[in-house]
Amino acid sequence: MAEAYVDVKYLQETAAALKQFKTRTYELMRIQPGHVVLDMGCGPGVDTVPMAEYVGTTGRVLGVDSDQEMIKNADEYARKMQVSERVEHRLADVAALPFESGAFDACRAERLFQVLPASACQPVFAEMLRVTKSGGWIVVADTDWATASIDFPDAALERKLIRFFGEHVRPNGYAGRQFLHIMTQRGLQDVEFQVFPNVQRQFTQSPFDEWLLREALTAQAISHTDADFWKTTLTEREAAGEFYATVNMVIVGGRQA
Ligand SMILES: C[S@@+](CC[C@H](N)C(=O)[O-])C[C@H]1O[C@@H](n2cnc3c(N)ncnc32)[C@H](O)[C@@H]1O
Repeated sequence: MAEAYVDVKYLQETAAALKQFKTRTYELMRIQPGHVVLDMGCGPGVDTVPMAEYVGTTGRVLGVDSDQEMIKNADEYARKMQVSERVEHRLADVAALPFESGAFDACRAERLFQVLPASACQPVFAEMLRVTKSGGWIVVADTDWATASIDFPDAALERKLIRFFGEHVRPNGYAGRQFLHIMTQRGLQDVEFQVFPNVQRQFTQSPFDEWLLREALTAQAISHTDADFWKTTLTEREAAGEFYATVNMVIVGGRQA
């Protein structure tokens, strides 16, 4: 089984690079002072803490995650940023949220659906709808790993590895492109989307170095010769300032009927 989750450090580092993308998700939630909002699969609090500013001193931000380490880091971050009184993190499964129906003015999930099995997508989205009040905004932001592209001399090997990443390393690697359809089918109103290219220039800090190679070799999807060629070539590209990788991040928002 491929390693599905990323660690705290990776999420903290990517948060800085994805600031503009993340800010757009908060804007699309139409958060107002006094609102109570939810972040599903909140990780180390890199979104719950910034949203404290949007809800103001009279609102509240809730974050849920099933990983105790994420919750611990999220709580520490909220304390450090002095927003603990209005930002709370809870250990919970997004498939069975511990909240009443219509409890939230707006709800978001970023890069959550790509780590859930595809079969969990509809039930978890149904939970998202259940806890959001009528007229509230629902925002899903996820990666479309099908759009990943790396400048590499052997395009067949590059395509093979990218496809392997989207279909085997990520439990639901194409989640990002699915939510325009899912939200429309579920009857959300005013559905809108925005696409952000996430460009990476550091091979060694990208998911396409150790992580991808470890999984591909374990699954015997590529040979050791191919893995060495990939690693050597892209390490040299990074050293020369020539590493280029990009993948689309998709934000879809809609209003609960
Ligand atoms: C790729 S991380 C994204 C974290 C955060 N949303 C961000 O953008 O930085 C996915 C998160 O979803 C959490 N997660 C995975 N399955 C979950 C579940 N069933 N219930 C709650 N959280 C879950 C993981 O623990 C992890 O923190």
